[in-house]
Amino acid sequence: MRASPDDHLTIGEIIRRTGVPASALHFYERKGLIFSERGSGNQRIFSRHMLRRISLIIVAKRLHIPLSDVAEVFATLPTDHAPTHRDWQRVSRAWKKQLEERRRAIEALEQELTGCIGCGCLSMKACLLLNPDDALRGRGPGPVRLQEPDATFPDEPPHDQRRR
Ligand code: FES
Repeated sequence: MRASPDDHLTIGEIIRRTGVPASALHFYERKGLIFSERGSGNQRIFSRHMLRRISLIIVAKRLHIPLSDVAEVFATLPTDHAPTHRDWQRVSRAWKKQLEERRRAIEALEQELTGCIGCGCLSMKACLLLNPDDALRGRGPGPVRLQEPDATFPDEPPHDQRRR
């Protein structure tokens, strides 16, 4: 079946409907997230269903989902018609999982930051935020070495040589 002219939108119409500027649309096109064709007069035209893809990009941006992840998801979506209700459910489920993982990572960082409050050592060896792979991690959050009675760090003088 031949597509009717109503199935296509000019870049101006896409901009009006989505609020996405031309520069961003060109960028998404270069990234392979959306596609255009050439219409009469060599004008760039977009299939109407590209609006759905652009909507998904807008949502992803709000969720701070990187475009590389959007591209991964889009590779699983149809290119010749709009994503279905089921497609959107699958995508939103995947992005929700991603947000949950990010939330857990932020909570872990927040926990480490809590250990730094009131510490201020900024030690490359002892601070979990500066040295996330520190072997001391297993001994709990915060300045575990500072909490030891005779704590010193290799880059610091021993207690008896410290200025008072
Ligand atoms: S400042 Fe992070 S543990 Fe001391």
